[in-house]
Parts: sequence; structure tokens; C-alpha cells
Amino acid sequence: MSDMRRTWRAVCGIGAGRVIMGPMRGRWGVLVLVCGVSVLRAQNMAGGGASASIWPVQGHYVGSARCAVCHPAQARTYPSSSMSVAMEPVEHCEVLERNSRLAWSDGPYRYLIEKTATGYPYTVTDGTNTAEAMLLYAFGQGKAGQTYVYQKDGQYYESRVSYYKELKGLDLTMGAQNRPPANIEQALGRRITSAEARECFGCHTTAARRGNELQLQQFENGVQCEDCHGPGGEHVASISDGHPKPGTIRNLKGLTAEETNDLCGSCHRTWETVMLLQIRGTANVRFQPYRLTNSKCFLSGDSRIACTACHDPHAAPQTDPKAYDAKCTACHNSETAAAAKKICKVASQKCVTCHMPRFEVPGSHHAFFDHWIRVARAGDPYPN
Ligand code: HEC
Ligand code: HEC
Ligand code: HEC
Ligand code: HEC
Ligand code: HEC
Ligand code: HEC
Ligand code: HEC
Repeated sequence: MSDMRRTWRAVCGIGAGRVIMGPMRGRWGVLVLVCGVSVLRAQNMAGGGASASIWPVQGHYVGSARCAVCHPAQARTYPSSSMSVAMEPVEHCEVLERNSRLAWSDGPYRYLIEKTATGYPYTVTDGTNTAEAMLLYAFGQGKAGQTYVYQKDGQYYESRVSYYKELKGLDLTMGAQNRPPANIEQALGRRITSAEARECFGCHTTAARRGNELQLQQFENGVQCEDCHGPGGEHVASISDGHPKPGTIRNLKGLTAEETNDLCGSCHRTWETVMLLQIRGTANVRFQPYRLTNSKCFLSGDSRIACTACHDPHAAPQTDPKAYDAKCTACHNSETAAAAKKICKVASQKCVTCHMPRFEVPGSHHAFFDHWIRVARAGDPYPN
């Protein structure tokens, strides 16, 4: 964490960050404003890239196929994580391949995405007017939802409808509920500003965002090795006698919980980002670094509560709740200090089923595991 962010958190977050900032009013308003500016400055100073904002990036990208030659273990398991396919050109998209005709209507608007010999045209009609575009990219692998991006007059647009796994069909894209279309073009999709497009591609692809630029001439689909480890050019070039020069690639082993939050949070959103953007209510359950930081279990210097304690960054998360028990009992066991206070009297296994309850993000048709680990009693309000 940069000194500036540390200061920001000390002033604005009061240490562990359990302060709930209300709406912008009175002195809090000023504080929120001051805090917001310093975070943005800290991010800009560091160059703006996702993981680039944590550790400086040097050298050039070589692509994950190169890494796979010498690191087969990670390369073999990584495709099981949906991160590896977080964005794909529509012609490689499995969801569309399996659903060659997707139709849906919303009031007067009838939507259709249909496979043709030339690609996937996406149309909307209200009976009188029709708008159409060829889909280019699929964002998200449909664990929750999948949204499409197309281009018109050199601008990027986000489809107004998305595919949801739960529904096995289309529904409004998250956020579209609040934006009734004023015309047929708006019913087709929302224009994404160039700054927003840079961020979308930055989090869902590799090497498309270079500093403040978005470039789509040379990049990799999805989150790949060099998104987290940084450009590998120097690492690969430095290998002689089978040994790379030390320090040429981000090692990432043994990071503390706080450092890991910064790495993963560059896309999954940090505590600071969620505070700054004032994302309240169950909409913020999908921002795991934010939720985890708020949990009493979060000890910032301890790697036993880092994202990587529970998740292999090179594989899909384990779905058997028992797989996480040992992660909890690494701290909650009778040998550790003050243990008596911290041992469960209710059950001795499947801890996450009770202490990480699931909440649906409005409009997402998916219930996310709440990473604010706690005693959650039925009827308790959602903690923010
Ligand atoms: C020509 C073979 C080769 C290629 C290609 C290669 N690596 Fe490595 N890498 C190595 C070797 C050898 C080591 C040292 C392994 C060891 O000491 O166990 C290493 C170490 C690492 C480490 C640990 C670093 C450390 O300080 O211990 C990471 C992370 C890593 N490589 C990632 C990558 C990524 C990401 C790519 C693709 C951009 C890549 N490597 C491409 C051979 C390669
Ligand atoms: C460059 C951006 C980026 C970074 C950095 C990143 N993630 Fe992700 N992650 C994503 C995106 C985007 C998705 C959603 C992929 C999808 O479903 O399309 C995702 C999905 C996931 C999933 C769900 C995978 C599945 O198969 O269900 C886990 C778990 C995860 N990330 C953990 C991590 C951890 C742990 C770290 C840090 C070590 C991390 N991520 C860093 C972008 C990122
Ligand atoms: C700051 C990084 C970031 C940006 C910017 C971003 N995403 Fe994501 N996106 C993620 C992560 C992380 C996930 C996985 C966790 C989740 O589902 O919330 C994700 C998930 C998704 C999903 C799967 C739905 C879901 O909730 O699982 C879709 C679709 C998606 N993003 C589309 C987009 C589009 C389109 C844009 C640009 C308009 C965009 N994203 C911008 C990080 C980002
Ligand atoms: C989402 C972020 C992320 C992605 C993507 C990612 N890694 Fe890693 N990688 C990590 C982290 C975090 C660690 C340290 C894990 C730990 O603490 O054991 C790591 C560790 C490693 C190591 C060192 C392993 C060891 O035990 O010495 C190698 C080698 C490596 N990764 C290669 C790769 C390759 C190759 C890819 C692409 C297939 C890749 N990584 C993709 C985050 C990532
Ligand atoms: C104490 C263990 C634990 C820690 C620490 C942890 N997770 Fe998780 N995470 C889980 C469990 C359990 C699941 C649910 C897996 C399943 O059954 O699909 C999960 C699921 C996820 C998912 C899939 C979204 C969903 O809810 O369906 C993402 C993304 C994710 N974690 C990211 C992270 C990130 C980023 C961090 C670090 C800030 C992190 N996790 C830390 C236990 C943990
Ligand atoms: C890094 C160590 C660590 C890990 C790993 C950890 N915890 Fe904790 N947990 C703590 C600490 C410290 C507290 C605060 C204890 C206190 O207040 O005395 C705590 C508190 C709790 C509480 C009480 C919270 C409250 O709101 O009163 C529950 C429930 C809990 N942990 C469950 C879990 C579960 C379930 C897991 C695994 C998913 C887990 N913990 C993993 C350290 C940890
Ligand atoms: C069936 C649901 C359930 C499961 C499974 C479960 N717990 Fe609990 N746990 C609870 C409830 C309910 C409480 C609150 C008990 C009370 O206050 O009387 C609790 C309390 C706790 C506390 C706080 C204790 C205190 O004295 O403040 C910790 C820590 C904890 N559990 C950890 C765990 C761990 C670790 C596991 C897995 C080994 C686990 N729990 C499994 C329901 C569960």
C-alpha cells in the first residue's frame, strides 16, 4: 500500500475501516471529498493499470502461451477459473455457441441475438423502428451473467440485455433498470465512454490497458498470467542456464492479507474504492476485498486470511464447503491465544455455510458468498 493510501486510510478509514460513511453531508461530506481525491491521486501517480498500480511494471508482454512452456502446473489448472475467459470475442463464446437463438422482450421492445454465417447480429425492434449491431465481445462467462459489447461509429456500446445462467436466457443488463431508453438506439445499448472502455478491458483482458491508453491491436482475452505477474519479457529474456534473473517477474508469494487485497482488489474492488464510490447495500457483496476487510477475522498483516489462503489463484474456487474448514481453524483452534473466545459452540465443520451467507446482487440473478465473515442471524440487517 502506498504511503498516500496508508495516510488516507488512517485519516478516512480510521484503521481497520469499519466506519460507515453516510451520504455526503456536513463535515463527513468534506471528508469524503478529501479522501476521494487522495485515492484518485494515489492511483494516477502509480500509472493507472490494474495490478500495475501496486507494483511497477517494466518490460513487454510475451503472452501466456510462453509461460505455459516452463510453468505447466499453473497453465494446466488455470483454465478452470472463469477469470481465464472473463472476456472473449463472440466467435469463441460458449454461451452463444450453445444458444444459437436468444429472444426476449421488455415492454414494447423485442430483442434477438441469432447466430448467422457472418457472426452474431443483435437487434431490437418496437414494431416501428429497428436498431441493429454485430456483437464483438462477450464479457463474463455466465456464472452470473454475460454482457455483450459492440461498436458503432467508432464508439463502444454495452448491450442493454445480458445472458443469465440462472434464467438460461436474457434479461436487462445490471444497471439498465434505472435507465429507461428514450429511443431505439438506447434500447439497443448504452454508449461506454473511452475511459470506461479502457477500464472494462483493463479488468477483463490482459495488456489491453497500457497506462491511460486502451489498445486492442495486441492483447490477450481474459485475465492471464501477466495481469497478475506483470509483463514477462524481461523474465524470459533473462533466463540463461535455466535460471531467470531474480526480480524480473512479480513473485507474489507470501503476501500479507492487505497486499493481496490490493492485488486482487485492483479488479475485485478494494475497501477504498467501494467507500469512494459509495456502493451501499447488497450491491457491494460482490466486492470481496471490501467485505473481507470489514470482517473481524481480517488481520491485515496475516496471510492466513489473504484471498490466496482460501483460493488458488490458478484454479476455480473449490465448491465443497468442507474444503474451507481448515482455513478457518488455522486461526480458530484451541491452541491459539484467546482461543476460548473464538471457538464455535454450534458446529465443527462446513463453517462457511453459516458464516459466509449468500446474498443476491440486485439484477444479477446470482447469490454471492458474503466475505464479511461473521455470526449471521436470521433477520439481521445486511451489514455495510
Ligand atoms: C524458458 C522458461 C520460462 C518461461 C518462458 C517463463 N518462466 Fe517463469 N520461471 C522459470 C524458471 C526456471 C523459474 C525459477 C523456478 C524456480 O526457481 O523454481 C521461474 C520463476 C517464475 C516465478 C517465480 C519467481 C520467483 O522469484 O521465484 C514466477 C511467478 C514466474 N516464473 C512466472 C512466469 C510467467 C508469468 C511467465 C510468462 C510471462 C513465465 N514465468 C515464463 C522459467 C520460465
Ligand atoms: C485483472 C483483473 C483481475 C485480477 C487482478 C483478479 N481478478 Fe479474479 N476475476 C476477475 C474477473 C473479471 C472475474 C470474472 C470472470 C468471469 O466470470 O467472467 C474474476 C473471477 C474470479 C473468481 C471466480 C472464478 C470462478 O471460476 O468462479 C475468483 C475466485 C477470483 N476471481 C479470485 C481472484 C483472486 C484471489 C485474485 C488475486 C490473487 C484475483 N481474482 C485477481 C478479474 C481479476
Ligand atoms: C475494476 C474492474 C472491472 C471493471 C472496470 C469492469 N469489470 Fe466486469 N467484472 C469484474 C470482476 C472482478 C468480476 C467478477 C466478480 C463479479 O461478478 O462481480 C466481473 C464480472 C463481470 C460480469 C459477470 C457478471 C457477474 O456479476 O458475475 C460481466 C457481464 C461484466 N463483469 C461485464 C463488464 C463490462 C461490460 C464492463 C464495462 C462496462 C465491466 N465489466 C467493467 C471487474 C471489472
Ligand atoms: C489472479 C492472479 C494470478 C494469475 C492470473 C496468475 N497467477 Fe501465478 N501467482 C499468483 C499469486 C498470488 C501467486 C502466489 C501464490 C502463493 O502465495 O502461493 C502466484 C504464484 C505463481 C508461481 C510461483 C509458484 C511457486 O510455488 O513458486 C508461478 C510459477 C506462477 N504463479 C505462474 C503463473 C502462470 C504461468 C500463470 C498463467 C497461467 C499465472 N501464474 C497466473 C497470482 C496469479
Ligand atoms: C476464508 C476463506 C475465504 C477467503 C479468505 C476468501 N474467500 Fe473468496 N470464497 C470463499 C468461499 C467459501 C467461496 C464460495 C465458493 C463456492 O462454493 O463457489 C468464495 C467465492 C469467491 C468468488 C466467487 C463469487 C461467488 O460468491 O460466487 C470470488 C470472486 C472470490 N471468492 C474472491 C475472493 C477474493 C478476491 C478474496 C480476497 C479479498 C477472497 N475471495 C477471500 C472463501 C474465501
Ligand atoms: C487470520 C485468522 C482468522 C481466520 C483465517 C479466520 N478468522 Fe474468524 N476471527 C478471527 C479474529 C481475530 C476474530 C475476532 C475475535 C474476537 O473478537 O475475539 C474472528 C472472529 C470470528 C467470528 C465472530 C465474528 C463476530 O462478528 O463476532 C466468526 C463467526 C468467525 N471469526 C468465523 C470464521 C470462519 C467461519 C472462518 C473461515 C471461513 C474464519 N473465521 C477465519 C481470525 C480469523
Ligand atoms: C450450523 C451453522 C454453523 C456452522 C456450520 C458453524 N458455525 Fe460458528 N457459529 C454459529 C452460530 C449461530 C454462532 C453464534 C453462537 C452464539 O452466539 O451463541 C457461531 C459462533 C461462532 C464464533 C464466535 C464464537 C464466540 O464465542 O464469539 C466463531 C469464531 C465461529 N462460530 C467459528 C466457526 C468455525 C470456525 C466453524 C467451522 C469449523 C463454524 N463456526 C461452523 C453457527 C455455525
